[in-house]
Amino acid sequence: MGRIRVAIAGVGNCASALVQGVYYYREKGDPVGLAHPIVGGYGPGDIEFVAAFDINKRKVGRDLGEAIFEKPNNTIRFQDVPKTGVTVKKGPVLDGVGRYLKEVIEFSDEREVDVVEELKSSKADILVNYLPVGSENGSRFYAKSALEAGIAFVNAMPTFIASSAEWQTRFAEKGLPIAGDDVMSQLGATVLHKTLIKLLVDRGVKVDESYQLNIGGDTDFLNMLEQQRLASKRESKTSAVRAMSPYEMPLRIGPSDYVPFLENEKICYIWIKGRYFGGAPLTIDLKLSVIDSPNSAGVIIDALRGVKIALDRGVSGPLISVSAYCFKHPPVQMPYEEAKQRFLEFARGERER
Ligand SMILES: NC(=O)c1ccc[n+]([C@@H]2O[C@H](COP(=O)([O-])OP(=O)(O)OC[C@H]3O[C@@H](n4cnc5c(N)ncnc54)[C@H](O)[C@@H]3O)[C@@H](O)[C@H]2O)c1
Repeated sequence: MGRIRVAIAGVGNCASALVQGVYYYREKGDPVGLAHPIVGGYGPGDIEFVAAFDINKRKVGRDLGEAIFEKPNNTIRFQDVPKTGVTVKKGPVLDGVGRYLKEVIEFSDEREVDVVEELKSSKADILVNYLPVGSENGSRFYAKSALEAGIAFVNAMPTFIASSAEWQTRFAEKGLPIAGDDVMSQLGATVLHKTLIKLLVDRGVKVDESYQLNIGGDTDFLNMLEQQRLASKRESKTSAVRAMSPYEMPLRIGPSDYVPFLENEKICYIWIKGRYFGGAPLTIDLKLSVIDSPNSAGVIIDALRGVKIALDRGVSGPLISVSAYCFKHPPVQMPYEEAKQRFLEFARGERER
């Protein structure tokens, strides 16, 4: 099998965990922590980073292997990364940096590069978008750049691109695959919450109300203090849970506060209230604590391998199974088990998309 040549937009905590993870699995050769050691013949170590874009002065101009450990990134360091030979280039700022991020990010004064030309000359197969929540124009800019460079696009954040009919058509017309939106962590709040709701509904419990409150101390949570930037994130997370029930229920789901000393630890509180046989009451009150960014990287390496398989097979447009399995707001929402089965069928070549 060949390599999977990946370009990154936004060298933040998620990019850090992804880059570290690729080197970790390449070096260790031990599949512990991976849902799928091999997908369609590709291992995590087959991912190769070929281009990266950011706007932060501390990251632009640095080798990717150094930039991932620069502040304000604060995820855990679980793997040393050598120099990658990829210099982080400056992309356009657009709406990438909101009111709160401005307080912790100093803009690079380097010249903006031509992103399409950079993508072409890097011979990237896939561009993965890790821009902050609320970067609507920024995310569309990178999606359009992928289209113009003739490469695939993976949207890890909650601007609705892979799940939008207009963008699906644009990628299909160019013969390119697209997957997204908003990566669903390996064992995070969304997959846990949706699986619990599905279980209760399957077991005949009437769910009367549920909430999911999330707190963290990284720039993702700092940025999400800005309610205007948050609408798509709330919709993405809520829609994933809502889709598990055939009836409406009061739901309140989303990022809830920024607690600086938590750094990249994310804490999630899930509450569910319902009734079962004879109207007897039931409550679930659950706390989940995870390190947020490795949680997303474990799934992005599956998405990247799924998209590379599509490229190899000449499949274009929205990847239904890859997106349903790896993302919170896919083109078609599915229960976790069904999404996983379809993803594996796609990887084995038994399903077209
Ligand atoms: N488990 C998870 O961590 C998880 C799960 C789902 C979705 N996401 C989403 O993934 C995205 C990335 O998360 P993160 O934790 O890495 O965030 P982050 O804040 O650590 O990183 C964002 C990066 O984008 C850069 N950036 C801002 N504007 C830019 C621009 N115009 N061009 C290029 N780079 C720009 C920032 O400088 C920063 O390096 C967020 O939208 C987040 O909500 C993360």
